[in-house]
Amino acid sequence: KVTKEFTANLPKAELHLHIEGTLEPELKLKLAKRNHVDIGQTTIKEVQKTYEYDDLASFLAVYYPAMEVLQKEEDFYELAFEYLQRAAANNVRHVEIFFDPQAHTSRGVAFETVINGLYRAVVDARALNVDAALIMCFLRDFSKESARKTLLEALPYKDKFIGIGLDSDEHNNPPLKFARQFEDAAAEGLHLTAHCDIDQKDSIEHIRQALEIMGVERLDHGTNIVEDIDLVQFAAKNKIGLTSCPLSNGYVSPEMKGKEVLELLRQDVKVSIHSDDPAYFGGNIGDNYYAIAERYNLTKDQVVKLARNSFETSWISEEKKALYI
Ligand code: HPA
Ligand code: ZN
Repeated sequence: KVTKEFTANLPKAELHLHIEGTLEPELKLKLAKRNHVDIGQTTIKEVQKTYEYDDLASFLAVYYPAMEVLQKEEDFYELAFEYLQRAAANNVRHVEIFFDPQAHTSRGVAFETVINGLYRAVVDARALNVDAALIMCFLRDFSKESARKTLLEALPYKDKFIGIGLDSDEHNNPPLKFARQFEDAAAEGLHLTAHCDIDQKDSIEHIRQALEIMGVERLDHGTNIVEDIDLVQFAAKNKIGLTSCPLSNGYVSPEMKGKEVLELLRQDVKVSIHSDDPAYFGGNIGDNYYAIAERYNLTKDQVVKLARNSFETSWISEEKKALYI
């Protein structure tokens, strides 16, 4: 039987983790005080009371305003380094961290402040035996012009991040809106991924665009793909990674989507388990593995396979990959 200890100790790669979603109430309050930002709450209990959401939009409405406490390079460093310490304790050996530059530049924080702080933590994580890297996400509810501007701002720092992604509100914001930015990023040698959130109005069409037109290597969430056998076959054949987040799913849907994950394992699709926004969805990556294993009676072999998929679809060097798969 799969135990909590087993899932905590399992060596894993974290591929779906938003650094802004690791902002724990303690650090939120500490930074609010240090930066003189009035967030309207002064105790951890009060902060936790604001964590009320039952769909993507209501979650994002709590999530983005909280970022106001992140102002200086040191704040971004502390956010990332504290997360990386927790990841090390959870036996995360490799992590590819999403960050949302537009959530910060849109309120006057410079791009370099964000990336320099985060990258310094990535470098310092080597001492923790965690191999870390950054993925820059575009906010899909912002314009493609804003994404273009962000990409141009980011390119001078190209040695500090390994890929691009797409997050925030998917409703009426299809992947194709950013086709040119993805094409240009790929030409710069950057890896490509995109959120295709669960149960969206146009889930299958969005997955199709991301896979067949834009050539993404992974889909974040993306489990609605099970509705389309041709896309499932395409994903299996091309070893597309699907990064599912059970606890996050449980917040925005009645289901953790375990049936879909099991079906994808059966179809030999490289699906894996991740934590999305652990400070907001009540659990780290080990807890996410445990939650799905417990709820859907996964075997140890299935859990190990999910972890192996996470290394296999990660963007680490082939030599490092060989250590884990
Ligand atoms: N979906 C969209 N936007 C997000 C998510 C997510 O899962 N997490 C943080 N921002
Ligand atoms: Zn996400």
